[in-house]
Amino acid sequence: MSVARKIIIDTDPGQDDAVAILLALASPQDINLLGITAVAGNVHLDLTSKNARIICELAGRPDIAIFNGCDRPMGRDLVTAEHVHGKSGLDGPILPDPEMPVQDQHAVDFIIDTLRAHDSNSVTLCPLGPLTNIAMAFEKAPDIMGKVQEVVLMGGAYFEVGNMTPAAEFNIYVDPQAAKIVFRSGVPITVMPLDVTHKALVTKERNDAFRALGTNVGTAVAQMTDFFERFDKEKYGSPGAPLHDPCVIAYLLQPELFSGRHINVEIETQSELTMGMTVADWWGVTDRAPNATFMGDLDADGFFSLLTERLGRL
Ligand code: BDR
Ligand code: CA
Repeated sequence: MSVARKIIIDTDPGQDDAVAILLALASPQDINLLGITAVAGNVHLDLTSKNARIICELAGRPDIAIFNGCDRPMGRDLVTAEHVHGKSGLDGPILPDPEMPVQDQHAVDFIIDTLRAHDSNSVTLCPLGPLTNIAMAFEKAPDIMGKVQEVVLMGGAYFEVGNMTPAAEFNIYVDPQAAKIVFRSGVPITVMPLDVTHKALVTKERNDAFRALGTNVGTAVAQMTDFFERFDKEKYGSPGAPLHDPCVIAYLLQPELFSGRHINVEIETQSELTMGMTVADWWGVTDRAPNATFMGDLDADGFFSLLTERLGRL
């Protein structure tokens, strides 16, 4: 029997972040969730922290340790995405206010202390929002980088280009400076860009399958995606909401669902026009060294059967 993989989820919930957290909590035999660190992104930090707790309580896991992290990007003003996620960040279902506490320690210090307490290459970081907390931890304590098994993150795009600007995906756009630090860190990185996550679409049939679970979790997930699909339907004409962030957790559970290329990815931090663009050398036209596995394709049916089956366990 394989040992459950130790992970920290760094997140800005967000309906799709919420589904990613639920997928991790539904998979304790595969995933040992050491803690959840909240970051400002889709909405302000007070709400992302609150939403993370709402989701843990929905899953019946008030014991999960949740930490507040950075309330703004490293060198820019915060840009949020209420136009996608609603005012609360988690619009859709009506869920009770959380009762579980937030830990006293800052998220960045939690990441540092946790990595220091573990062996080399043994903890996987799963950022689902702007990379501020992760970059701050790497800057403050460069010794922890050797403890990272892998960073598996949602962010960026190549063929799909931008969802926030014509050039940039939201998570990278919000804190390009942090993204640059992480992509230049030398730790193993796996990226779930929009090229993949725009294939993880919740069609009506797939949402009916969540609802048909007949559980509080199944109903809440269906209501979240009902709300969240509005933006992408209008913008892209897609048949439903893209489940961006759950791709990160699905990759830990079934990596064979994804395919991509090990390539060089640089982050644009200078140009206002293309700020936050992931300049991905997909075609190998430079001699810059590969620093990330950049996913390009997904077995969407396999992804949704995994997700629905696992959510059914909660
Ligand atoms: C990413 O931005 C957020 O709105 C989503 O939660 C996801 O992490 C997609 O661009
Ligand atoms: Ca997110």
